[in-house]
Amino acid sequence: MNESDSGYPDGFFQRGDSASDAIFYLPPRLVTHIDDAAINAVSEFYAELGIDGSSGNRWRVLDLMSSWVSHLRAAPDELVVLGMNASELAANSMATERIVQDLNTDPVLPFADDSVDAVLCCVSIDYLVRPVEVLREVARVLRPEGLIVITFSNRCFPTKAVRGWLETDDEGRGAIVIDYLRRAGGFDDAQLSLRTPASRGYRGDPLYAVTARAITARAATSGA
Ligand SMILES: C[S@@+](CC[C@H](N)C(=O)[O-])C[C@H]1O[C@@H](n2cnc3c(N)ncnc32)[C@H](O)[C@@H]1O
Repeated sequence: MNESDSGYPDGFFQRGDSASDAIFYLPPRLVTHIDDAAINAVSEFYAELGIDGSSGNRWRVLDLMSSWVSHLRAAPDELVVLGMNASELAANSMATERIVQDLNTDPVLPFADDSVDAVLCCVSIDYLVRPVEVLREVARVLRPEGLIVITFSNRCFPTKAVRGWLETDDEGRGAIVIDYLRRAGGFDDAQLSLRTPASRGYRGDPLYAVTARAITARAATSGA
């Protein structure tokens, strides 16, 4: 049992397809995984948070579990993209650095402490079998007050998502993400919001976001 499994029900991190992720992600998928309105909600939220280049912030942004698009309207000063497929990452026109890494076998991020201003993870957190370890690493590499933005919907590759994610609903998924952050430690003020409310005319894929801010490096190492 690895560290992330402890405290979760038996089988929470099991997946229908337990083969190496390198096999599943071998073919490039130059597609989108949520509908246009949900993608637009992601872009709008990043802009609101000052993450994209139009903010005037000269930020180093890390897009974790990335592909050929990072859903930013304007490129940040630096955009590091980390994912499983080199061709997808090569097609990401905003990227300034590309890293192929399987976070399920190696959750250690290849960055210095406090070296990143914001971390994004869009419609992908459900594929991690060691999410607490990965998020602990995110807390380490984020500068104090740096932002993490984890977005999710109700669509996924079902054979690759963890069972605990598949067996709950949207509300339960929000609680899972917040719980991952709490267990990782090093984050403050986690907030869940629905970015595609029916009251604003959305009818398609729901898009939820969890945001949190990194606290000090000393607190990040103390864990939950
Ligand atoms: C549904 S796609 C989402 C891609 C992109 N974030 C987006 O918003 O379009 C899932 C992504 O997670 C990445 N991924 C899946 N398993 C991973 C792993 N074990 N380590 C690192 N990245 C992974 C894949 O490379 C893929 O790009």
